[in-house]
Amino acid sequence: MTTDTQTPTLRYIPGGDADALSRRLGRAVIKLASNENPLGPPLGAQAAIHDAAGRAQIYPEPTSESLRAALAERHGLTPEEVLVCAGGTDAIQIAAMLTAVERPGAAVIAPHRSFLAYRVAANQVGLRAVDVPLIGERLDLGAMLAAAQDPAVGLLYLANPNNPTGTSIDPKMLTRFLARVPERVLVVLDEAYIEFLAPERRVDAAALVRRHANVVVLRTFSKVYGLAALRIGYVLGAAATIARLGRFVMPFRVSAAAQKAARAALEDELFVIRSHVHNRRQRTILTRGLMAMGLEATASDANFVLVDLGRPAAPIAAALEGRGIMVRTLEPYGMTTALRISVGLADENRAVLDALAELLGVAAGDDAVAS
Ligand SMILES: Cc1ncc(COP(=O)(O)O)c(C=O)c1O
Repeated sequence: MTTDTQTPTLRYIPGGDADALSRRLGRAVIKLASNENPLGPPLGAQAAIHDAAGRAQIYPEPTSESLRAALAERHGLTPEEVLVCAGGTDAIQIAAMLTAVERPGAAVIAPHRSFLAYRVAANQVGLRAVDVPLIGERLDLGAMLAAAQDPAVGLLYLANPNNPTGTSIDPKMLTRFLARVPERVLVVLDEAYIEFLAPERRVDAAALVRRHANVVVLRTFSKVYGLAALRIGYVLGAAATIARLGRFVMPFRVSAAAQKAARAALEDELFVIRSHVHNRRQRTILTRGLMAMGLEATASDANFVLVDLGRPAAPIAAALEGRGIMVRTLEPYGMTTALRISVGLADENRAVLDALAELLGVAAGDDAVAS
């Protein structure tokens, strides 16, 4: 276990700008760098955005009351147990702010190879991030639990499935883990990718927050719901915990277009199923294609695949970009030979496999990529 530096330079570097690359290359590009839904936003959400456009002079519902009610109903909770915010990243920051105010100087546990925003958020509010290494590509719950025994720890972030590894936690182990974390530690269970996980591997979020006042569950509309551009997500938690977090959310935080699109997206359950099925099928094709090239690809439960190229990844990512294909390098995680490739449309996945095979000078594994 290491304590992360508090360097002011620690910052989250998002996936590249596809429009800028497209302008530079003078053609359409394939973006597999930010784990977006390749199927786009659901049609109902698009219609809601159009409707909202004509009423843009009116302030939105201050605390997203209608959406909160819909989310509460969906999860079998009360609206007081739901906080709507500007995406999962916003929720991550809000939890860090709350901890900084309630527990000045507290330590924050963030797994070493997990969403970098956790450490960035802790750093922004002057909290110390404690970096717990993984076991291989899996979160080390035992080490996290041991780290949480330190009375200085006030906040713990846990992604399931985890980014950038794509691994998920056994539901029984997760339940046991959450029961053992000391109550003084606020746990943010980050379920940004939960809809891509096999249903039998999911834990009932509502049951968790009813059982544990110190556990909140983060969800986002950026991934399976295809609304990343609108910046909207939410947190489930005990009413008292949600009220504490809510102190850090100004009224009107979330735009009317985002609120309305999210409500429409939530209703389109078929779209979520279609996205899940598309992802599962294409993730298998992508993973097998990478393995057919002799590369080490981690079995993923999310909408991206982590692959070790066994050689410096940055030049390969740059060469892919030159061909109009954007993937994610992982230097901030200390993974200099790995790439994270989001699952795209069938032809996008085929294109990245073909380009990688050519760049690495290996066979493309045609059987594996044929869908
Ligand atoms: C693990 C994890 N949590 C949360 C988020 C936040 O996404 P957003 O702020 O778009 O909701 C992401 C985005 O990539 C993520 O990978």
